[in-house]
Amino acid sequence: MGDDTLFAQVLDPRNRPDPYPLYGRLRETPVSRQADGSFVVSTHAAVRSLIFDPRLSSEDLPPSRRPPTGNPLRDWILNPIRNRVVNAHRPLIFRDPPDHDTLRDFVMKEFTIARVRESHAKVARLVDTLIDACRGRDTVCLVDDLSYPLPVAVICELLGVPEADEAQFHAWAIRLATALEPDARHDEAGRREITATFDAISDYMRRLIREKRRRPADDMLSGLAARGGQGRPAMGDIDLISTAILLLVAGHETTVNLITNGMLTLLRHPDELERLKVDPARAPRVIEEMLRYEPPVHFRTRKALGAIDVAGVTIPAGSPVILLFASASRDPARFADADRFDPDRRDNQHFGFGGGLHYCAGAPLARIEAEIALVTLCRRLVAPRLLDDPPPYRPGASLRGPKNLGTSASGLYLFFYYLGGLAGTAVLGQVFERWGWGACVLGVAASLALAAALTLGLREPSSARGVT
Ligand code: HEM
Repeated sequence: MGDDTLFAQVLDPRNRPDPYPLYGRLRETPVSRQADGSFVVSTHAAVRSLIFDPRLSSEDLPPSRRPPTGNPLRDWILNPIRNRVVNAHRPLIFRDPPDHDTLRDFVMKEFTIARVRESHAKVARLVDTLIDACRGRDTVCLVDDLSYPLPVAVICELLGVPEADEAQFHAWAIRLATALEPDARHDEAGRREITATFDAISDYMRRLIREKRRRPADDMLSGLAARGGQGRPAMGDIDLISTAILLLVAGHETTVNLITNGMLTLLRHPDELERLKVDPARAPRVIEEMLRYEPPVHFRTRKALGAIDVAGVTIPAGSPVILLFASASRDPARFADADRFDPDRRDNQHFGFGGGLHYCAGAPLARIEAEIALVTLCRRLVAPRLLDDPPPYRPGASLRGPKNLGTSASGLYLFFYYLGGLAGTAVLGQVFERWGWGACVLGVAASLALAAALTLGLREPSSARGVT
């Protein structure tokens, strides 16, 4: 089978649960030309050499084109102007230097480690509140109940979006995340929806920025909006809007997938789940290995500005280039026992957050969110187990993750231990009076044995408490 059909199989939703064997076959040809003229780069060495190459452009995004509305004023005057403005002010992830560097500099001055650290307490509180809401339930859906609500709430707080508007942001983030998938570009209905969402969120942001200028607060948007004056450069309003939207979208689906893929990996490796539960200090290395082993972002697309020679292949100028990060991070030429989940590996230079100029700006925040969420889940879910393995996946091949992840948290397990204790106490009271200490010990042992037997035999989900 040709290499070009291999990547088509990666895009096929039926292969979403396990694309890794396909990556293994793709790596046999580190740089492979596809039927459509694009090049897929799949080994660690080849991705690494290209990620720092200035001849690869990130501006490979088709120009914004609003679909016709039937209204001549809109179709011939207003929309062409809006298209031009949007195309000239793309977010930094789709920009090359020098514009990219200027915009990134603005963002990083506000996205400080101190500010990210401050969000620690908020993340911990949110995770606990979300898990509290699952009390008394048979099953917990990790996506709907935890992974999805968390990142939106955190980024809204950092940016300074009022809490009352979080639900609206949540809906916008979901719709805009599809814009990052290559397939979204070809689907007319999808483009229409993305454009409408983009317009709605842009209008909202414009109003919010005005408000932040009037009444600045201690948040990122106020900081970004206040920059400039006294000879210092300022970020223009349109760049400010597209940056705020990027922060919302880039940090949403990705963090959702890190938490969900992470929990899936732990449930498939119960020994690691148990180790993390008893030793939360292991969290940073567990998360790092998750970013290598089951990363949320599988590939990103670039365009060759000039001819590039890599791994014995010449990529002609103008060709789209797909950097297959997830394959590079599983390359056995770079990582010993690459297909094994091993949080104790020492040398772990994965591409989970990309690399080079576009290295993820939100990496420290994403790590904090994932650490707190996973450690808390391990601590609070009682004897969790997967309901479906593999779980159903969302369609995206680039931003890859489960649509939902049902776990049953066996409350019966605890319930029968409590029952055992109660029975033991009752027996103790009765027996001690009449038959003396020997019978009492026998009674307690029998009740504990009964509780253990019931616990082992009845682990199905129940209406008892599944989280502590
Ligand atoms: C687990 C969660 C996350 C993962 C796996 C992730 C992954 C990535 C990757 C692979 C890139 C590189 C894109 C490229 O090379 O074209 C990237 C860029 C970026 N990420 Fe993240 N990200 C995560 C969370 C976040 C968060 C929470 C934020 C912010 C709130 C964020 C903001 C950004 C931004 C602004 C860029 C563009 C940087 C640039 O172009 O200079 N990310 N991310």
